[in-house]
Amino acid sequence: MAKAHGKVILLGEHAVVYGVPALAAGISRGVEAQARPTEGVSVLTIDGGPTVRADDPGDLARALRAVLDYTKKDNAIALAIQVTGELPPGAGLGCSAALGVAIARAVAEARGEQPTIAEEHQRALAWEEVFHGNPSGVDTAVSAQGGCVLFTRGAPPTITPLYVRRPLSLAIGHSGTGSSTKVMVEGVAHFKARSPEVFGKTLEGIRSLVQNARLCLESGDLPGLGKLMDLNQMLLSGLMLSTSEIETLCASARAAGALGAKLTGAGGGGCVVALCEGDAAPILEAWTRLGFEAFASTVAASP
Ligand code: MEV
Repeated sequence: MAKAHGKVILLGEHAVVYGVPALAAGISRGVEAQARPTEGVSVLTIDGGPTVRADDPGDLARALRAVLDYTKKDNAIALAIQVTGELPPGAGLGCSAALGVAIARAVAEARGEQPTIAEEHQRALAWEEVFHGNPSGVDTAVSAQGGCVLFTRGAPPTITPLYVRRPLSLAIGHSGTGSSTKVMVEGVAHFKARSPEVFGKTLEGIRSLVQNARLCLESGDLPGLGKLMDLNQMLLSGLMLSTSEIETLCASARAAGALGAKLTGAGGGGCVVALCEGDAAPILEAWTRLGFEAFASTVAASP
């Protein structure tokens, strides 16, 4: 069984597309995939849904071919791939990247290959590119690696595992609507074209928030990390990525004692991540009272 993590971006989403580092963490919820040899054409079934053949039209089949062909030898066996997952799509929790990583791992296992982390990242990115057009690669990197990483886009990307001095207690709340990462990334590109100066200043602001957040994480300054997350949320709102539900989730998390809260991932819907002081229960309760679905996740301290 091949597994991949979901993710939260603690700081730096969208700016990471333009080369600013992002700070992201793997969460325990994720995706599992299994591949076994089959006759004829390779097929993919996600969570008991319809089965897609690799030679079908459509994005899902194209993404499947992108992973299969990455490693195809002349005599590559056809595979039946089965996937189950705990990540809602369009929620900013890296569902698509986790699917790509888990499927790439299952394919490699079934074909007796042992790709390096970098090779695995490339294969999963080939999947991700079908859906997101211009992914930075942060989701696939964290999904494959887990833990807490500082990611900078590039060829190859820089993926630095970070020292986490104190464990992070996170509350993750769903705003109730999904969003398309592709559409949100395109929206930010339009913002950049319309207001290049404001956009440039916003990127530099996010860059310094991420640099400081790294220091907070390494020194165990969780109140400091929370404040930086709040400031990141303000800059993301300025890029038109927030919604009234996201603002409600952030405000109620802070009122319930969170150290900081912000949207995570593409925004325009999806999830909010709140950094909690100890137990996440008060924040989860505040959110469920307002009718939002929520769960807790932790990021372990480094050994
Ligand atoms: C999506 O989880 C993160 C974005 O920065 C897009 C990307 O990095 O590819 C919005």
